Amino acid sequence: MSDATDPDPPSVPPAAAQARAAWLRAELAHHAHRYYVLDAPEIPDAEYDRLFRELQQLEARYPGLRSADSPTRRVGGAVLAAFAPVRHAVPMLSIQTETDTTAGGAVAFDARVRRELGLSDDAPPVAYAAELKFDGLAINLRYVDGVLVQAATRGDGETGEDVTQNIRTIGQIPLRLLPLPPAGEGRGEGGPAPAVLEVRGEVYMRRDDFERLNARQRELGQKTFINPRNTAAGAVRQLDPAIAAQRPLSFSAYGVGEVVGWTLPGSHAQLLDALSAFGLPVSADRAVVQGPAGLVRFHDDIEARRDQLPFDIDGVVYKVDELAVQQRLGFKSREPRWAVAHKFPAQEQMTLLRDIEVQVGRTGKLTPVAKLEPVFVGGTTVSNATLHNLFELRRKGVRIGDTVIVRRAGDVIPEVVGRVPGARAAYVSNFRMPRTCPVCGSAVLREKGGIDHRCTGGLFCAAQRKQALLHFAGRRAMDIEGLGDKLVDQLVDGGLIRTLPDLYMLGIAQLSALERMADKSAANLVAALDKRKHTTLARFLYGLGIRHVGEATARDLAHHFGAIERLMDASVEQLLEVDDVGPVVAQSIRTFFDQPHNREVVEQLRAAGITWPEHEGSADITPKPLAGKTLVLTGTLPALTRDEAKALIEAAGGKVAGSVSKKTHCVVAGAEAGSKLDKARELGVEVIDEAGLRALLRGT
Ligand code: IVH
Repeated sequence: MSDATDPDPPSVPPAAAQARAAWLRAELAHHAHRYYVLDAPEIPDAEYDRLFRELQQLEARYPGLRSADSPTRRVGGAVLAAFAPVRHAVPMLSIQTETDTTAGGAVAFDARVRRELGLSDDAPPVAYAAELKFDGLAINLRYVDGVLVQAATRGDGETGEDVTQNIRTIGQIPLRLLPLPPAGEGRGEGGPAPAVLEVRGEVYMRRDDFERLNARQRELGQKTFINPRNTAAGAVRQLDPAIAAQRPLSFSAYGVGEVVGWTLPGSHAQLLDALSAFGLPVSADRAVVQGPAGLVRFHDDIEARRDQLPFDIDGVVYKVDELAVQQRLGFKSREPRWAVAHKFPAQEQMTLLRDIEVQVGRTGKLTPVAKLEPVFVGGTTVSNATLHNLFELRRKGVRIGDTVIVRRAGDVIPEVVGRVPGARAAYVSNFRMPRTCPVCGSAVLREKGGIDHRCTGGLFCAAQRKQALLHFAGRRAMDIEGLGDKLVDQLVDGGLIRTLPDLYMLGIAQLSALERMADKSAANLVAALDKRKHTTLARFLYGLGIRHVGEATARDLAHHFGAIERLMDASVEQLLEVDDVGPVVAQSIRTFFDQPHNREVVEQLRAAGITWPEHEGSADITPKPLAGKTLVLTGTLPALTRDEAKALIEAAGGKVAGSVSKKTHCVVAGAEAGSKLDKARELGVEVIDEAGLRALLRGT
């Protein structure tokens, strides 16, 4: 794009173009500093890219505007003085970005490659390695004789920063390469480790790790992090390795730098297989595809699964698979001709904050919700986003009328991560928490030293009642099909339901009288309620919505006490005997059952016909072959769903964890197993299939 010069450019660019270019350069320099040096960007990446492209286009149109200090002249950011500089043996280049987010981007890349290779139309399709574009920080790992001796950031591409200390804290990164199997057994050559092997890849933070980190920050009333990418970058470039060690980071390898004493395999896909065999984490979400159709299929498949991936990606990367063909294609200015990044819609965007409303949740918590000028983020249009709580809102300094940054990634609810400095309209207005509940008018209180404001209306408050019903009916609780937002609104607003047991008193006639409710849907709901009357104690307990009793705690409680009467009468001390139940949870359970109306709700629900199999509690004699063992599930098992496998493991006394560690007993892997499988292999954790799991469950 930057080479598309005007056929006959004017020798002196017009003054307006000069002024615009100067402004863009200053803007870009400012934002690059915020991003690369301070790890505190003020604008979304998409906005930076837009400014950058505008400057590129301007410079292409008026070559007289090009200057040595233009940000379009360099690859990355500045080098922090605090880290020792590392001169890269092989420069760490960037790749061209295909900004056409439709399938057309992939087709255009293939057409360029074929043209450069001089392939005729009837020549066979080119093979590509397609992979994820991780949204993190590029790192070069240098292994000498198989030992990790240095890790460096990309820096400006020529010189990076020595961040070895911090990178060593990432458990996924092997400090020593595994020996390769001997030649002939598939993956590359055996024998001694390469004299030098530089592995390139991305350090990133998983979304769940990021959410946990932010939840902790929120609990402590501390500043939350903006997004996983900045948090990962900040951790890697953290001067205190002890702090870096507390930030859970991950790594995925996607290429190599300097290599001495090891023969590269013939293709990029084989190279990644070899890196995996060396013990490095390599994403399982990669494929070798043929021609543009293959690229488009991969692109669409990953885009459809983007929200389900446990980490942020900002697109996919296509690379010509054969290394010899890569070499033929070579480089153009500082970018390889054999690779391209095909971007997905950005997960952060700027928009106008029109208003702030307050939403009342199940436990009465008041959440400030941003009402936004609708904006397309992460693949959908967003007009509401959470601001979490008053303190976070104040810390972010957000006011009505501000331009704010909205983030929507994965299945996490959209949130306002900050305001864009500078552009503050004349009509900005400050937000206050209401003193009374906007739904029921009850007093709003904040616990001493607490962060959250709460409506004190309890189940008197329609908002809390609605949320309580939705929670009770939820998939992981009583799993009542068809009882969604709209119906719950109608039932509560129409006065048909005040407490949970009222649900079971609903008749078809009453329901059909509701607006937009056909006889058939009414009958369906009554049948759905009936169908789930026989449940488990764990689901029932979770459904009650006792504060601090999540799914896992509900299961532990059910398992420990066996019968609900024993739980309702348990003292705080007895509650503390349950695994993972601490003082806060124990007190919350006690307080819940100390309220006569809560005990009444339990009685009435049972009287309405809700039952579950009773057992003796954990003192029971059922065999627990997996007691004390932690298993990890990955991929799709042939017969069991993930929930079923989890339930069976837990019934056998085991636990299911989300990530693999040295303490993992074994990993149960199915089809398309992900990075957890790589991790298990790296740590030498046993990997079994579904049949193996069944054997374990039988205690054999
Ligand atoms: S290949 C010469 N592959 O995206 C090719 N890069 O400019 C070097 N990235 O900063 C890059 N996932 O950190 C490659 N699967 C992937 C990637 C990837 C993320 C990052 C990389 C670089 C930028 C591309």
